[in-house]
Parts: sequence; C-alpha cells; structure tokens
Amino acid sequence: MNTLVTDNTLADREATEPDFNRIADRMVSRRGFLARTAAFSVTAFVMGTTALTPATRAAANRLIGFRAIPASGADTVIVPEGYSWHTLVSWGDPLFSKGKPFDQATRGTGESQELAFGDNNDGMSLFALPDGRFVMAVNNEYDNPEWLFPTDSKDRSADDVRKSKAAHGVSIFEVQQNGNTWQVVIDGKLNRRITADTPMAITGPAAGHALLKTPSDPEGRLALGTSNNCGNGRTPWGTYLTCEENFNGYFATDAEYSLTEAQKRYGIKTKDRGVQWYKYDDRFDLSKSPNEANRFGYIVEIDPTDPNSTPRKHTALGRFKHENAEVAIAADGRVVVYLGDDERGEHLYRFISKNRYAPGNDASNASLLEDGTLYVAKFVYAGADMSGRGEWIELTHGKNGLTAENGFSSQAEILIHTRMAATVVGATTMDRPEWVAVHPTQAEAYCALTNNSNRGVKKNGGGVEQAVGGPNPREKNGYGQIVRWRPDGQDHGTDAFSWDLFVMAGNPEVHPGTHYAGSANINAANMFNSPDGLAFDIDGRLWIQTDGNYKDKDDFAGMGNNQMLCGDPATGEIRRFLTGPVACEITGIAFTPDQKTMFVGVQHPGEKRAASNFPGGGDTVPRSSVIAITKNDGGVIGN
Ligand code: FEO
Ligand code: CA
Ligand code: CA
Repeated sequence: MNTLVTDNTLADREATEPDFNRIADRMVSRRGFLARTAAFSVTAFVMGTTALTPATRAAANRLIGFRAIPASGADTVIVPEGYSWHTLVSWGDPLFSKGKPFDQATRGTGESQELAFGDNNDGMSLFALPDGRFVMAVNNEYDNPEWLFPTDSKDRSADDVRKSKAAHGVSIFEVQQNGNTWQVVIDGKLNRRITADTPMAITGPAAGHALLKTPSDPEGRLALGTSNNCGNGRTPWGTYLTCEENFNGYFATDAEYSLTEAQKRYGIKTKDRGVQWYKYDDRFDLSKSPNEANRFGYIVEIDPTDPNSTPRKHTALGRFKHENAEVAIAADGRVVVYLGDDERGEHLYRFISKNRYAPGNDASNASLLEDGTLYVAKFVYAGADMSGRGEWIELTHGKNGLTAENGFSSQAEILIHTRMAATVVGATTMDRPEWVAVHPTQAEAYCALTNNSNRGVKKNGGGVEQAVGGPNPREKNGYGQIVRWRPDGQDHGTDAFSWDLFVMAGNPEVHPGTHYAGSANINAANMFNSPDGLAFDIDGRLWIQTDGNYKDKDDFAGMGNNQMLCGDPATGEIRRFLTGPVACEITGIAFTPDQKTMFVGVQHPGEKRAASNFPGGGDTVPRSSVIAITKNDGGVIGN
C-alpha cells in the first residue's frame, strides 16, 4: 500500500485536495523529527549501546499502543490482546455466482479457478468508492502445486496449466462490512480476474521495440498476461500497481537453445522448473518465442473501478524482478516511484515522471507513468560505516556511460535490460531489495533488504563483487536489515540523500556480542529474520512483514513462524503484532480509510506439505488467505 494516499481514497479525494500541499504541510515538522532522533540514528546501531532499554522505550511509546506478543509455532494467526481476526477470502473461493465453491477433493478446474480468488496472495490495496463501496485488488503471486492439484503429478494436463495460469495474476473484488465481519461481494460489478492470459497494453519508450516483438504480437505493443505479481503500489489518482517479480521461472524449452547474456542476467534457464506452461503455450517456449520473456518484469497499472479497462505495462519504470512500487510526490508535483529488484546483489531504483501530478485531473494523471526518468541508487560509505550519503544515478541513454560502445543503442534497451545498465553506472549491489515504504509525514523512505547468502561470498549476476559494507554490512547475511534514506531538501525529487539503518535483524540469544545479534533495537522478545513487506499507516507506524526461515532452530531459534511487527521510526522500537500459521509468509497489507480494519495476507501456509490446515482447520487443505483484523473496542489498529 502507499501511505501517502491511504487517506486519499476516491471517496474523500474532493475534500482533501490538493494532495501534495497536504503532504508539504506534514513535512514541516520534519526538522523537529531530526532533532529528536539525531542522537539515536548513528550510535544506537553500535551493538549494545543505546540510551534507552527496550522496557523504558515501551513505556514511553505513544505511537504503538498494543502489548507485544511472543513468537509462535502454532498453526494459526495470533494477534495482541484486544484484537480479533477473521478470514476474508482464500485461494479458490469463487468471486462470481457462476463459479463453484472450493472443492477440497479436486481443488477445482481451470474453469473454476478463472472465476475464483487466485493462489499465493501478496501485495494488495483497498479502494473506497464515492458511493460507499469498497473494492480490493490483490496480487496472486504464484501457485503451490503441492496443494493446487489433488495429486502432485509431474505431468500436467492442458487443464492443469490453464488452472495454474488462472491461479496467477490479480484478483479484484468488492468487499463489504456486516457488523464486525468483512465479506467478499459475490458478483460485485467491479469483480474481475486478471491472469497470465489477460491482454495488456505496453507503454513507454520500449513499446514497439524489436526486443518486444513476438510471433503473436508482431507490433510489440500488446502483451498477454501478468504473472509473479509480488508487492504492489497505488497512485494518488486511484489506480493499482502490480509488480512482476520472478517471471524468469516460467520460460523453458525442449529444443536446442542458446541463452543470451541478458537472459542469463535475468535468471532465465532452458530447463522447466515444474510449471510446464511452455508445453501448452508457445509464448513460454524460449525457442518458439524468444522475446516473450522481455514482456514480463514490469510495473502494471490497473484501474480497479473499470473492469473493462486494459491493464498497462509501463516500460518507463524498467524491467527487473520488481518487488513493490511505492509512490510519493516530489516538491514540484512530479510523481516519484521507489522500486526494488529482489535478487541477491541487484539494485534499488527510483522513477520520476516527466509531467506533474494534477489533483482531480485523472485523465492527465493516467499517463504519468508512461514517461519519465529512471535512476538507480549508489550508496557512499567508508569501511564499517552504518550511515552515510548516497545519490540517484540517471539511467538515460547517452549519459553515465550508457552508450552504444557499452551495449546500449537506445533508451528502450536500457529499460528492457535495466539490470545491465545499472551495472554499467556502478550502482550499489544490495541484499535483495524487497518493499519500499515512504513515511506519511517525513521525507524519508525505508527499504527491506531481506537477506543475502552471497554477500561477501559470490559475485552478482553482472559479475560484480558483492563487497561487505555500508547498507549491506554483513557477510552471508541470513537475517536482513532495513535501510532508510532522507532525500536532501526534504524532497523525494532531489538526487542526493543521507542514509542509515533502521534495524539490523539478528539473534541476540544465539550470536551475542556480534553483528549477527542484530542492532540495539533487537532483543529476545522481538527478534525476527528476513523483513520483506513494509508499509506505513497514516499515523507513521512502520509495519514489517517477514518472509524468513521458520524452522525456529539454530540461527533462527526463538523466532517462530513468519510474523508481522510494528516499528516506531523515531525511537527505533519494534514490537511483534502478529504471528502466522505453519510454513506461511506474511505479506500484503491494506487499511480501511479510518484505519480501523487492517487486511493482512497469509501466503502459502503449509508450503512443501508442511503440517498446516490453515485457515479451515480439521483436515482441510491449507490455503493462502487474506484476513481482516479489527480492534475489539473499535479503535485504530496499532495505537
Ligand atoms: Fe515476491 Fe521478493 O518477494
Ligand atoms: Ca516479497
Ligand atoms: Ca521475500
């Protein structure tokens, strides 16, 4: 979700415009914030030194009001005292009355899946409509074949592949609250499934380029489908952004085929990884449609209020394994989008639109993501510095070495092979950039760097050494960290920034006195690993979701199942808010505009046939689900 616009839904937009004036007003208080936190920002990250103990910080905290919960290995969701949760929707639930209720025995067919909520829900946004209705857009990142099919057949039928493709993409559906319970509106006018076969327009400088032309689309302007939709974003003009991540795993061939350097950089292999789409759809056979993979790896913009609209893949925001798309507005009104590329040793990006956001003028805003400038982050530090300076380096043809001699003959090639362009300009290799979150009132952004077993050990995909240091301070980093940056001039549109680490995850019980214990704001009561989902609510609480090692032993002893925590950006305090069921990942977060309901994603409970029956219990099949969390006294979540 995008915190800048959480309270700027379609319903209240009229009352709150112009948005970026409000944002500028909120930023006025930033000087006070810096003064309050200056003492904390550097010294607190030196192991064992902090002015406040966790206990005294907890007592003083006005931002976070719930009582932290312990780690858990239970096969359920646990939330703090005074909170309740219920399941909103699970994989296979029909969104239309002509669909079929989820069948525990067969798990459905291609046809039923096309009418139902997809698998592995991830990023999501809730949109409040002017007439009081709510529509939710939820990513369905991939499928769990061990549960998608009744038998774990290695030989998939045509209908198995149809079902798998329909389990991917985006589910859009209306929701309503009855008493304390949220429900899907079956047959809601806006209900829609977007799958790996839905037609999508290609926009921006790379549209129509030779590298995007295929046998089924000789113009290179109309792609079919989106897949591996990981994190998300939302725009101030009311559209949904879905982010294509691990698309590389869906291409294969049985023919003799020689991969290009670019295909290798993006992790494409000729051997099928089990999905078998290439057997029934030539688009996914590398030898038959070698450019098809160049049409995945983008930010896709969807209008959730028009089920007949054509989603648009925006090449201007680059092609890589997109995690999420966090939108902010620069001081001059241009749109800033922060973008992570989730791979060991890949990079952190920023897009700035050419034109300015025009509050209320959705027709002009609609094309903002079609034209702009892409940048990649370079962090500056010395030795073991845990804070420093940095800059955004422009990825524009003819600048910074991005010339024909270095392999780039046009802007289109830079946008299609963005990873390689980032290597040319000397971008910093990162520990797997996952979600970026922008603070609602301070000009600062946070990115979860989830982990990197290759840090200090192996080169990245571009052959660049992954040196230990700066925002990636640990060799063989199994725990992850969250880096934070503050743009100069309190403006997300400026090219220079200061950075520090908000937290280094770790295990103070297993690795006391070392970097692997984590930063000073990590203790035995709140430890976790592999921060991934990241979002602010409108009050400035930072919600942290994990996709980590849940074996609860060795390096990860005491951490339990994947979880969600809440951080205070000013004090650094972190409290555990939620624990998930067995073998799940917690990912995806959305709020109602009044912040009294929080929606959270529980992805792949029981993956690899781990013993889970979430959420149905008994002997039911484990199913990825979106849950709704409310406070029993009807209050704001988290306070
Ligand atoms: Fe889909 Fe990087 O998580
Ligand atoms: Ca993720
Ligand atoms: Ca992850």
